[in-house]
Amino acid sequence: MCGIVGFTGMQNAAPVLLEGLKKLEYRGYDSAGIAVMNNEAISVSKVTGRIANLCARTRDGADLPGTTGIGHTRWATHGAPTEENAHPHLSNDGRFAVVHNGIIENYLSLRDELRQDGYRFESETDTEVIVHLIELYYRGDMHEALVRTTNRLSGSYALGVICSDEPGKIYAAREASPLILGVGIRENFFASDVTALVSHTRNVIYLEDGEFAELTKDSVRIFDCLNQTVEKKISRIAWNVQAAEKGGFEHFMMKEIMEQPGAVKATIAPRIRDGRVVFDELTLTAEELREIRQIVITACGSAYYAGCAARYALERLTHIPVVLELASELRYSDPLIDEHTLLIVISQSGETADTIAALKECKARGARTLAVVNVVGSTVAKLADNTVYTWAGPEIAVATTKGYTTQVSVLYLLAVYIGDRLGLLENEYKTLVKDLQHLPRRIQQTIDLNASIPDLAKKYHSSKALFFIGRNTDYAVSLEGALKMKEISYLHSEAYAAGELKHGTIALIEEHTPVIALCCNPAIMGKTLSNIVEVKSRGAEVLALTFRSNQKIISVADDLLFIPDTDPLFSAVTEIVPLQLLAYYVAKENGCDIDKPKNLAKSVTVE
Ligand code: G6P
Repeated sequence: MCGIVGFTGMQNAAPVLLEGLKKLEYRGYDSAGIAVMNNEAISVSKVTGRIANLCARTRDGADLPGTTGIGHTRWATHGAPTEENAHPHLSNDGRFAVVHNGIIENYLSLRDELRQDGYRFESETDTEVIVHLIELYYRGDMHEALVRTTNRLSGSYALGVICSDEPGKIYAAREASPLILGVGIRENFFASDVTALVSHTRNVIYLEDGEFAELTKDSVRIFDCLNQTVEKKISRIAWNVQAAEKGGFEHFMMKEIMEQPGAVKATIAPRIRDGRVVFDELTLTAEELREIRQIVITACGSAYYAGCAARYALERLTHIPVVLELASELRYSDPLIDEHTLLIVISQSGETADTIAALKECKARGARTLAVVNVVGSTVAKLADNTVYTWAGPEIAVATTKGYTTQVSVLYLLAVYIGDRLGLLENEYKTLVKDLQHLPRRIQQTIDLNASIPDLAKKYHSSKALFFIGRNTDYAVSLEGALKMKEISYLHSEAYAAGELKHGTIALIEEHTPVIALCCNPAIMGKTLSNIVEVKSRGAEVLALTFRSNQKIISVADDLLFIPDTDPLFSAVTEIVPLQLLAYYVAKENGCDIDKPKNLAKSVTVE
């Protein structure tokens, strides 16, 4: 959560910082602020609410002249979203300003100690101890002050610091929170995420835990925690600035839904060569795979649901039992995991705190680890033994869409790849590979088949509660469909395994309660059809999602959504698309802030 940005260069910093913060706003958006250094003095402006308020407050940055500065957009953890708690935080002598993403776990004891030393606290945040520690330890050498300060901190941080005694310099430090340096021409940057940098430079340096950086407009120097210089390589970001723009769409979410055929193609196409699934990045040998007794999948939110959806393909094609565990649960569950476990970790951002902790826990128990990640160079990508990137491009909307479908696609590829190594029959293999190659087209067909969704949204948007039901993959997709609906439209939506309805949930069905029934697997469709009839007899309004040639359902359901006829083993990536669109249009009908739903943040870097 929270986004930080820093700039030093030839032009005024404030407009650059504001533009960068707009790009980082998906990380948190309850308050924001910037600090700019000018003539050896630091000016700060902070607001509650969105970056737009900060632009208005500073007249698009014109009120804070100066070519060096730092900025922050906040998702409150310690202290309410007020101006006092917004970053940057200033030292008592006004010489230092700090922005921070992460959590300082020992802040209470540090605060007591600093108070006893006479430091005055203006906020309720954990962050404020950092700026007072820097003031305490600064004796004309910021390196020393940073090393001594970071030595005192427990927890996670990406820090940006300016000091009025050091004009033209910005400092950045990292421990377990994302931080990237941007290397420009006569200007340099730091940011939580490349999206804030890419309009200025595509040359970046990934800072590692325990490192800090000193940036001037002409130099980028990196040091370890002992203040020894570290040589780092410059990486080139593969995608361009348009990838992080709305490109004519009203919302990022709609753009990202529409990008799914292309994103899934980018995920799948390079990994199928001469009719074979190829993972150049995997080091797991067939022999090692034969030793695997269980696959454990862990993740949070939609990434977890991506695992739920792909589980059926993984089990059927590999014959290895698959266990799903939420990362926040797994990390504390004393799990039965050893070297015969393949742990698959799924994370769009690669920075989710619980996912990182679960990965570390399972690694320590000897599991072989494989990460499915979108953000290159992220913490999860670096920690896992094997990393497979989803290549979805930047995802900005808080509610994931193409992140999810590309994760499921990678898991399908892995199912076929591992299955092949464990003895999948050649004929079946060839058919499966063809089916995978058709997925991008099938997603496009799904979008085209469901032009009625804006009208359906008009019918369903004022419902009190919606229920999603299905079996197996249909149930797994229901979970994600219900999550999409609740996170962006704020309607109460719950997913249930269709067979479980009778065990309680059916008591909630009354006249006109919408039930969204997923029936995309012909083999078990009859069973879900019975559940549809049961809820209809109690007054429910049924919106069924099914494959196109399914005639049986037409007479039973009130409304229909379609996917093209497809092998149910790989149907999750098409099934979810109409549900994403339904959630989008319902949220739009209800006037919700679709890209930035209330209380949420895209990258959940706190526990
Ligand atoms: C947040 C996001 C979700 C995402 C989840 C896990 O809740 O809003 O879209 O699925 O975090 O994030 P990750 O980056 O690990 O996939």
